[in-house]
Amino acid sequence: MVQLTCLSRLLLRRKFLSRSVVSYQNINAAQYAIKIQTTFKFSDLGVQFASPDQLQPKPDVNALQFGKHFTDHMLKIYYHESLGGWQKPQITPMENIALHPGAKVLHYAVELFEGMKAYRGTDGKIRIFRPDLNMDRMNRSAIRLGLPTFNGTELIKCMCRLVSIDREWVPHSEASSLYIRPTLIGIDPSLGVAACDSAMLYVILCPVGSYFDTKSKAISLLADPQYTRAWPGGCGDKKLGSNYGPTIAVQQEASQQGLQQVLWLYGEDHLLTEVGTMNIFMFYINDRGEQELVTPPLDGLILPGITRQSILEISKEWNDFKICERHITMKEVIELTSENRVLEMFGAGTACVVSPVGSISYLGQTLQIPTTEWSTEPLYGRVLRTLTDIQYGRVPHPWAVPIDDYA
Ligand code: COI
Repeated sequence: MVQLTCLSRLLLRRKFLSRSVVSYQNINAAQYAIKIQTTFKFSDLGVQFASPDQLQPKPDVNALQFGKHFTDHMLKIYYHESLGGWQKPQITPMENIALHPGAKVLHYAVELFEGMKAYRGTDGKIRIFRPDLNMDRMNRSAIRLGLPTFNGTELIKCMCRLVSIDREWVPHSEASSLYIRPTLIGIDPSLGVAACDSAMLYVILCPVGSYFDTKSKAISLLADPQYTRAWPGGCGDKKLGSNYGPTIAVQQEASQQGLQQVLWLYGEDHLLTEVGTMNIFMFYINDRGEQELVTPPLDGLILPGITRQSILEISKEWNDFKICERHITMKEVIELTSENRVLEMFGAGTACVVSPVGSISYLGQTLQIPTTEWSTEPLYGRVLRTLTDIQYGRVPHPWAVPIDDYA
């Protein structure tokens, strides 16, 4: 209801919304039923423990770099159509994987992944956050790549067992966590661009601190309309490796300009879509003089982030300001900043959690965003604290599930 009111208000006010993006919403809705044909089972899980000489030293928790250190074990599950589908899940010591040079993943990027985290709570319990949502998104990505789907609860249980085996790797720190990277690849050795007969699902774990290697609090963004991350009918709403690889050169360009991340735009109206690897939020004063939180709608260009969804749900519960999922154009951001009506912008995602935005460099001008300065209690900080209170078990909440409840 809130969404409709906001959207119709915006449609009246701004006549330049891209038709193609709006109509794509309907196509996207048609994909919502996930059919699980076969699955692997947690009850079939086999475990091969690492020998003492295979155990790695644990890194200093204060010097963790994102995704550089891996734990001692991994989870592997093969799928072979010729053998009846999914095989038994196995936890093994962390090791390299061998692939045929013709494996489809190496040629056509038949790869998808998820990003999740395990948190060591103040009570010593290790929790994961809304894992069912990751499983749902992972299956949707699998469908888009013609890879096999599976029962998400079975994978959550296998992953929780993996985390439990490597539990000493979950940092004893409320500034760090254990990043969980479930990955699904097409492995059949055949160069035809066709659905895979064989696949491999694996899960690896990394103790992580902050995603950004930067001291400054608010990030600076490059918004260059010549680059786009996603388009109608494409895969921007799926978590595919092929969405991320092509962003690296643009990220390098931002760095060369002394900027930290890329603000991804789309279309003639320069719609804001995402920031770096995160969803984008703007907190501003709307035409009625009210505080309003906006984020682009799930129109096929936007990854349905779990942090994004959680922020929207928490904000609705607070009921302290308006909330709207709608398109935002650069023209609007320029107008609003010139009237001092943009209070905050921030990115949100599993890896980076919540990252305040300080400035946007766009077509030769720099827009200053007062995210970290306009208030002693900015919204991004409130959101971050609320999420981390749940994740680290400081505030009991059904979204944070102890791994021992699963495995
Ligand atoms: C996440 O936020 O979970 C991500 O997947 C970002 C990742 C590409 C580093």
